[in-house]
Amino acid sequence: MTETDFILSNFDVSKASNGSVTWKTPSNIALVKYWGKQEPQIPENASISFTLDACFTLTTLEFRLKKKRPVTGSEFNFEIFFEGEKKEDFKPKIQKFFERIEQYVPFLKDYDFIIKSRNSFPHSSGIASSASGMSALALCVMSLERLLNGAEMTDEYFNKKASFLARLGSGSACRSIEGELIVWGNHTEIEGSSNLFGTKFPFKIHENFKNYHDTILLVDEDEKQVSSTVGHQLMNNHPFAQQRFQQANDNISKISEIIQKGDLKQFIKIVESEALSLHAMMMTSNPYFILMKPNTLKIINKIWEFRSKTNANICFTLDAGANVHVLFPESEKESVNNFIINELIQFCYKKHYICDIIGNGGTQLIVKNEQLKIGY
Ligand code: PMV
Repeated sequence: MTETDFILSNFDVSKASNGSVTWKTPSNIALVKYWGKQEPQIPENASISFTLDACFTLTTLEFRLKKKRPVTGSEFNFEIFFEGEKKEDFKPKIQKFFERIEQYVPFLKDYDFIIKSRNSFPHSSGIASSASGMSALALCVMSLERLLNGAEMTDEYFNKKASFLARLGSGSACRSIEGELIVWGNHTEIEGSSNLFGTKFPFKIHENFKNYHDTILLVDEDEKQVSSTVGHQLMNNHPFAQQRFQQANDNISKISEIIQKGDLKQFIKIVESEALSLHAMMMTSNPYFILMKPNTLKIINKIWEFRSKTNANICFTLDAGANVHVLFPESEKESVNNFIINELIQFCYKKHYICDIIGNGGTQLIVKNEQLKIGY
């Protein structure tokens, strides 16, 4: 599929004049990381992630057809409320998102929107909410598209286009539409993979990876000093960029086999190496920066100690921050949970942590729609 397949040409705004759609959409955690991109949000290498479940954003998009129509060359009209409060400072990001997606969903300027959003995790937890937030909004926009041109759209197209739109808001958001394992970025060995949207891992997932756990240890709840936008940009002139992109693509091939075979030991090696390679890129860019904190390293060392003592299949990964994602199979949850509580949460900010598990992607909760009345 190409970009033009996502341009909506046939639609009738009178089919939805006043209503709302609500989606609950999770975050995701990359096993093989995306770090480095080209315009417009095209990844330099393929990535693969576990879709999460407990860390989600709940978004309602209220829409009302503008009275003065047709609308030509006007502005997007929207208000945004986050956790009940009006947020003017969130507007530029949404404005940019609307500008980027407008050519694919040309009905946006026909409506006045109110966006109401909340997260299941604390806003200041250091957990990036862009993946769950942008994917939830993209799904809401797609539900509106479905009301306007409905009948012909398959679920497969709906999900692909939602992922395509979410990507234009935040790259990793395109991996939050569906579960349980999503690949984003062209890769010769992953059938159906694309730079434009995320696709479900096309092979059988071994039982060992069913209900895999991700306990997120909140080491630092402050805003990151370097945004991922800046981090991605720093890959443009990075001395190790090409080797890194090659390494990630090779790791996709390896992890694909590992996931099919259920090889937990090899899984651990790839996942931890990926996390440290991501942070190595940050430490070797110009300017360089470090997002890990002393407690991040303490946790990593504790995990290594516990693993060598017990042979447990526990490992860590990191995203662009100091928090540690502790990954482990369902069959080992009791011993690992005890270890986390007894030995790791002391390193968390105010002992905060979140127990999450592999999930299935977005869920549509409510659709309300009044159609245009004659004489409106
Ligand atoms: O989607 P962005 O632009 O916030 O970038 C996400 C980058 C990482 O979280 C570090 C890695 C990834 O693949 O999710």
